[in-house]
Amino acid sequence: MKSVVIEQPGELTLQQRPLPAPAPGEVRVKVRYASICGSDVHIWHGHNPFARYPRVIGHEFFGVIDAVGAGVDAGRIGERVAVDPVVSCGHCYPCSVGRPNVCRELQVIGVHRDGGFSEYAVAPASNAYRVPESIPDKLASLIEPFTIAANISAFLQPTAQDVALIYGAGPMGLTAIQVLKGVYGVHQVLVVDRLPERLAMAQQSGADAVFNNSEVPLAAQLEGIQPTLIIDAACHPAILAEAAAIASPAGRIGLLGFSAEPCTLTQQSLTSKELSLFTSRLNSRRFPQVIEWIERGAIQPEKLVTHYFPLAQVEQAMTLFEKDPRTCCKVILSVE
Ligand code: NAI
Ligand code: MN
Ligand code: ZN
Repeated sequence: MKSVVIEQPGELTLQQRPLPAPAPGEVRVKVRYASICGSDVHIWHGHNPFARYPRVIGHEFFGVIDAVGAGVDAGRIGERVAVDPVVSCGHCYPCSVGRPNVCRELQVIGVHRDGGFSEYAVAPASNAYRVPESIPDKLASLIEPFTIAANISAFLQPTAQDVALIYGAGPMGLTAIQVLKGVYGVHQVLVVDRLPERLAMAQQSGADAVFNNSEVPLAAQLEGIQPTLIIDAACHPAILAEAAAIASPAGRIGLLGFSAEPCTLTQQSLTSKELSLFTSRLNSRRFPQVIEWIERGAIQPEKLVTHYFPLAQVEQAMTLFEKDPRTCCKVILSVE
């Protein structure tokens, strides 16, 4: 099979590899589509602290089960599936409280083990979720990025009366906009980014108002609006302090970032308004929820897609994705 392998930081190759056999409890998926994420680019450049090399990258993928390991129902062969990249032990403390995404032995497919930028990939059978016929092949790899928004929303508990603010209109911010508007019916969703093209995408995804903070700081543009719910999907370490300063009393802030730089803020800025701060990593078994949202039209993954490339052009696709955020949002590799 052909696979995209990061041999070591900086070295992306398209290799011929032996077809993997599914281990007991696993399925093998013949991959059809896989979408590119910022973290794939980070693994390529050696900027992902969790990655081990050499690695077949790709954690957002869809395909058809073509083989099953011992103990897996052979009736699943032929099933169209999206694969949850979160592989967990099932018995540690976080697993026991329904948070396998921060399992003590967490293994992320495409990061800690081989992923979906490949003609075939193996995964635990319980990570392969059946995709209904109403979701087309070309869009099914986007279930995973929406699970990030689903996960942070489960902490933030959005309501219709919220005034939400989302930092960043990249794929993460755009999925969050769609979930807040389409699923939770949030009255007002405000979005801030530095790129006008990204803000136009935010409007496409349902933002009620957009702000460009490339020249004028956001606080000066809000005219006293105090957001009750804030999601940081831009993830610069300076954002948290600004979010705390502009948030409404009793507001909630959700953080998605992995920066190793300190965020500097005072206890007073949080406690005086009794702000709640939530962090969210990947997803805890949220594939069924997102599949149901897409099925009933609450969210529209097609709005995120700007490009398709064949797998063989992976380097060109990842370079465009990395260098051109003004024209790119989700870039999807087609594997057949
Ligand atoms: P992206 O880089 O495509 O989007 C970020 C957007 O934020 C860009 O449009 C950029 O112009 C904008 N931005 C940057 N600094 C800003 C600032 N100071 N104010 C306003 N806008 C600003 O990235 P993507 O894929 O949307 O991911 C966003 C972040 O989410 C990344 O830092 C990534 O590491 C993190 N992430 C976290 C996950 C989690 O499970 N916690 C999962 C996936 C991504
Ligand atoms: Mn991703
Ligand atoms: Zn565990």
